[in-house]
Amino acid sequence: MFRHGNKPSRSWSGTGGFRVPVLFTVLILVLVALILLFRHDGDKPSSSVGSVKQKWSSFESLVQFNPTVEFRNGTDVIWQIPDSPKAVLFVAHGCSGRAINFWDKSPKCPNCVGLPEERLIVLHALARKFAVLTISSVGKCWSFGEESMIVKEIIKWWVDKYKLEKLPVFALGASSGGHFVSMLATDMSFSSITVMIAEGLFDHMDITRGYPPTLFVHMPKDESRRQRIDANLRMLKDEGIDVAEIKCMEFPLSPNFLADRIPGLHNTVSMKLFDLFWDKGFIDKNGYMKADGRAIHLKAALRESKIVLPDMHLFHHIQEELNLAFAYHEMTSLQSKQIFDWFEAHMS
Ligand SMILES: *[C@@H]1O[C@H](CO)[C@@H](O)[C@H](O)[C@H]1NC(C)=O
Repeated sequence: MFRHGNKPSRSWSGTGGFRVPVLFTVLILVLVALILLFRHDGDKPSSSVGSVKQKWSSFESLVQFNPTVEFRNGTDVIWQIPDSPKAVLFVAHGCSGRAINFWDKSPKCPNCVGLPEERLIVLHALARKFAVLTISSVGKCWSFGEESMIVKEIIKWWVDKYKLEKLPVFALGASSGGHFVSMLATDMSFSSITVMIAEGLFDHMDITRGYPPTLFVHMPKDESRRQRIDANLRMLKDEGIDVAEIKCMEFPLSPNFLADRIPGLHNTVSMKLFDLFWDKGFIDKNGYMKADGRAIHLKAALRESKIVLPDMHLFHHIQEELNLAFAYHEMTSLQSKQIFDWFEAHMS
């Protein structure tokens, strides 16, 4: 082996004429480099790369928040219906989430939080003429007994109240909300569902042919979940259900990333935060998060630094975006275009 390897190197010591073995080696190296390059590209869906450029204000000229808030059946129900809606979308948050996270703070909803990913999903939906309904789980996470009955009733009440019964109904849930939606779909007639960063409760249900088309939006860095999603994808496909998946990959932070994604966080603060993350070793030399936003000592780092956030609540917004960039487990709006394309391809 070694003797073989020595051959090309000997020709380098020659007078400069490129011999065939050298050319060959160079060719092989170029090929290997190309393969590595393309493999890397293949891992990154064009969506993530392209859409990170999307700013929090992208929808400003298209649609504004104007939600209605109601307390019903012991929980918060918040919705907005655009002019001439063409579909209905129920969105279920993850553990510790609330309906108020999906809507910007406004006179109509003074307690609303407007987390960056949640609000962009709603804006995207409204811009595509989906009527959006959000409901808070009663406990920290969704439960799977009586709560699904209550939610089903709320959706039906709301659809009747606004005479939306002719429209196709969709559901999107993240994490615990993804499990919840996967189960609600055995009980309610959805045109299609999106199960985000969750494998769904398919081990606990009987899937029939009437189960709706199902899109998994997930972060393959969560390897054990990826395996469970793979298994459920195969199972659903075998049952004749229309299924698809979107893989969400990590991406690097840039100095203006947080300002682009979070309303009210200005560029100067965003750049200072980026420097802080670098100083603290939260990001590597290419800007990638080294760990999940929940695993780093973000609060302490912020306290030590002299950075003044315009609003202390923005801590949660920042953490969400760091989780998103790390791409292990977070609500994501970056794939909204593909998600709503999928919904619109399943309107019947
Ligand atoms: C939900 O609230 C409505 C109106 O207050 C009521 O009629 C209905 O019975 C409640 N449903 C449940 C499951 O509690």
